[in-house]
Amino acid sequence: MAKLAILLALAQSALIHGLPARELQRDTHVIEERAITFSSGLEITTSYSLVVSTLQSVSATETPSITGVIPTGLPDPGFTLNPIKTAIEGPSHTLAPIDWTLKPGPTEPLNNVEGNVFVPMATDTPPQQVSRRDDHPVKKINIVDGDVPLHTNKFYANLFLGKQDFPVFTHPYSLTWAKGTGDTWGMSVSHVERAQVAWGEQTPPRYWIAPIGIQHIVMSAKELGTSTVLSTEELTGFSVYANLAPSVHSDPVISFPLVQGMGFVTALYNNARPQLNSGVFFRTLDYIGRLNGITYKYRITLEDNSHWLLYATPVGSLGAPPFTLKDNHLIEGPDAFIGSVQIAKNPAGDPGEQMYDSTAGAFATNATISGTVNGAFGSYTLEWGKSGVQNQTLLMFAIPHQVESFDQASKDALTNIELVTTTKGYAKAVVADKITMVEPELPASIGFAPWVPDKEDGNSGSDNIELTDQMRVMVQNSGAVELGQNFIAQTSLDSMYYSGKGLAKFASIIYTVQTLGKDTELAAAGLVKLKDAFNVFINNTQPLPLVYDTVWKGVVSSGSYGGGDLGMDFGNTLYNDHHFHYGYFVYTAAVVGHLDPSWLDQGSNKAWVNMLVRDFANPSADDPYFPFQRSFDWFMCHSWAKGLFDSGDGKDQESTSEDTFATYALKMWGKTIGDAYMEGRANLQLACQKRSLRNYFLLEADNQVQPSQFLPNKVTGILFENKVDHTTYFGANPEYIQGIHMIPLNPSSAYTRSRKFVQEEWDTYFSHGRADKAVAGWKGILYANQILIDPFAALEFFSDPNFDMSLLDGGASRTFYLAYAAAMAGGESGAAGGKADDAPVQTQYVEYNGTEGEEEEPGPDDDWEWESDDDETSYDESTASDDEQEGGEDIDTATDTDIDDEADKEVDSDDEYEWVYERRKR
Ligand SMILES: *[C@@H]1O[C@H](CO)[C@@H](O)[C@H](O)[C@H]1NC(C)=O
Ligand SMILES: *[C@@H]1O[C@H](CO)[C@@H](O)[C@H](O)[C@H]1NC(C)=O
Ligand SMILES: *[C@@H]1O[C@H](CO)[C@@H](O)[C@H](O)[C@H]1NC(C)=O
Ligand SMILES: *[C@@H]1O[C@H](CO)[C@@H](O)[C@H](O)[C@H]1NC(C)=O
Repeated sequence: MAKLAILLALAQSALIHGLPARELQRDTHVIEERAITFSSGLEITTSYSLVVSTLQSVSATETPSITGVIPTGLPDPGFTLNPIKTAIEGPSHTLAPIDWTLKPGPTEPLNNVEGNVFVPMATDTPPQQVSRRDDHPVKKINIVDGDVPLHTNKFYANLFLGKQDFPVFTHPYSLTWAKGTGDTWGMSVSHVERAQVAWGEQTPPRYWIAPIGIQHIVMSAKELGTSTVLSTEELTGFSVYANLAPSVHSDPVISFPLVQGMGFVTALYNNARPQLNSGVFFRTLDYIGRLNGITYKYRITLEDNSHWLLYATPVGSLGAPPFTLKDNHLIEGPDAFIGSVQIAKNPAGDPGEQMYDSTAGAFATNATISGTVNGAFGSYTLEWGKSGVQNQTLLMFAIPHQVESFDQASKDALTNIELVTTTKGYAKAVVADKITMVEPELPASIGFAPWVPDKEDGNSGSDNIELTDQMRVMVQNSGAVELGQNFIAQTSLDSMYYSGKGLAKFASIIYTVQTLGKDTELAAAGLVKLKDAFNVFINNTQPLPLVYDTVWKGVVSSGSYGGGDLGMDFGNTLYNDHHFHYGYFVYTAAVVGHLDPSWLDQGSNKAWVNMLVRDFANPSADDPYFPFQRSFDWFMCHSWAKGLFDSGDGKDQESTSEDTFATYALKMWGKTIGDAYMEGRANLQLACQKRSLRNYFLLEADNQVQPSQFLPNKVTGILFENKVDHTTYFGANPEYIQGIHMIPLNPSSAYTRSRKFVQEEWDTYFSHGRADKAVAGWKGILYANQILIDPFAALEFFSDPNFDMSLLDGGASRTFYLAYAAAMAGGESGAAGGKADDAPVQTQYVEYNGTEGEEEEPGPDDDWEWESDDDETSYDESTASDDEQEGGEDIDTATDTDIDDEADKEVDSDDEYEWVYERRKR
């Protein structure tokens, strides 16, 4: 009898798998902890013969702590600069065309992707002009992965940053290393109900915040005390192991496999006595019985009336592991326990419990993504690595944008269990080892040219590059003026961000002059200047060169090394904002390579750009130089801007539009270099990003996901993992908060920002002349955004002969805005619809009405005259710093959304600007 029981237990334990066993490296400099793994056939050492007492209860003797902490201030992001620089000095002359007809490469979608689009791109060493540094200002804290690329912007970074005691959000749960708080050294598990969040007092409320620090259930062990060490291991794009060891010199006694959306919080114990603590207080503990032959189940109620389930799956022992309710903040398990303890909150009564029962014992340890793309149709699958009881299916939570795009099999896996997340609406549980999301309307038809969406605001549309003669001449003239600007002065800055914006601006002007202005010789002249300005970066001779960081492994600004300001260039050195910064460079390179395909094969041009792509959007987990998808979070379908800064609010992002622009840049670079996988992947990414933004960030009046009282704000402002704050890091003007989700206007804006949304936002904040109150560069942005809903009005604004160039942001041009507005207006009135590919390139000269000729006719090898007026290399930064705030301070947003109505002051401009398209009656 006894023998049989042991054999059965052996068979059962064979079902428990952990990480593959690996050799322990006895290196004294490296922390020796490794995540706990269970090997099969573990010897049975214990038999629990005690009768487990059922229904234990205690009454609370103190007040439970259920309010937590409300951090209303912004965490220090490392920077507080206004992203908009204006004050671009007018040029002293216009640019003259050169005798060179550009022969752009093809633009039709490559569309020959077979199989998974997540395939490795280059894996070679970064170009040698980018030197290596091994002294990154942020040191690794107890990361045991060894010398591999590490994730810097993923949900779990708080586990290895700062004091390691800020929460990480797996949604719907959050986990915080208690580190002595509440007299425990375990991992605190929290689930905050929507009724518990704090609201800003304004109407609509400026913010909502999920309190942090509520210790619903802390998973700890008797062995853990003041010397406890938290280490992390197996850092992947979707998961990590958090390990707790009693001291630096001992092996971990608990490992937590953390995966986004995990249905249980699972603690793997190795030879330790489990202790569960609670700041909310235990009321009852109820032993229910054995499930599936292996797993033992308890029920817990807390003093906030919430119901939790506890599942213990022992390895190497027989019988029900006894858990005892000692007092209202302690439940203790058996000594020397080996196995898993899982907890889950059950909001769904008996049916919910059945779902948890049927999946208990199994847990996810990681996830992989795969995706396919076929023209405008795409889909992607998240598949979880599973451990524990292998024959159980996983229970995982999916968030609204995923559920919305589930394929049929994933829909069929939905359960009745729903738990609210902090900032992503209600998560629904699925019983599935993978989920598949379908994106049927990829932006495959979007290219470099203005893209006019179909009437019904669908996801399809078409290029429009045909302007009226009048508009074309206007674009040519404006192009000649703006291309006459000093490129180097605007692009060779001590900031990758501002430099990239400048480069992308000139790239967009040159493309516009070539394709919509149809003046190839002017475009060619601009391209020569642009290549030289871009070369500064390829040669890595900009004021703050890039370095390859061998610690975390990535390409960063050298600005914060050697004691430099960590917030330099928006925290680039610490991996903030890489997708924003590098997206502008990648777009620029795509335009240059499109207009002159031979450039792609010169020197290290392509390798250098691919290095940036690999840094922020690497498709492979096997690249030895860069982590998989640093910025983008494929579980959320948006990026996180925050890098190696610890934050009580978790990761965050404040510019959804620069996020989508970075994706658009990947799409166009993929197209330009003929990488169909990159193009397809970016199309898929842009589609799911659009969906994610519509669900969480760009709030249409009928949004069903975010709290209704917040919707009148129209955008989230900064979305953190535990709060949404309708503000920015650099100030709280409405044009900042809304505008940071608009920049830079580009062909994909009409796809990611629906007309319905843009109209509602415009009516809320900017109609009736209120846009005119916006500060300089932001005013131009608001009118450029108006192109998406009323291109005629926007065209009037930008074509004003007295247009004030200081209304343009340093990343924006009048040339593109004019062409974009005219193309959208033309597209709307059905006047045009040519395709970029078929367009004959006209070579006619343009009559400039300017000071043409002051500049020498340049040839590609000439010394540029404009390099001589280089004393204006950095333009006024003081306007930006006026808006600086101390990080960590509560920003007071006296929003002036109700600035006086200037309605009816509209000038009737029809006779002044005859060329303006006849306004359609609406
Ligand atoms: C998994 O295996 C155990 C023991 O072999 C068995 O009791 C249980 O019913 C199985 N579960 C499923 C879902 O097949
Ligand atoms: C994912 O988890 C499974 C199960 O634990 C494991 O076998 C696999 O090696 C893991 N994959 C990676 C890439 O870590
Ligand atoms: C970049 O480096 C190349 C090769 O060293 C050199 O020919 C070129 O002039 C440099 N360009 C710039 C803008 O520094
Ligand atoms: C050229 O511009 C000047 C002012 O910039 C204007 O007075 C003049 O009429 C323009 N000439 C033509 C031919 O458009």
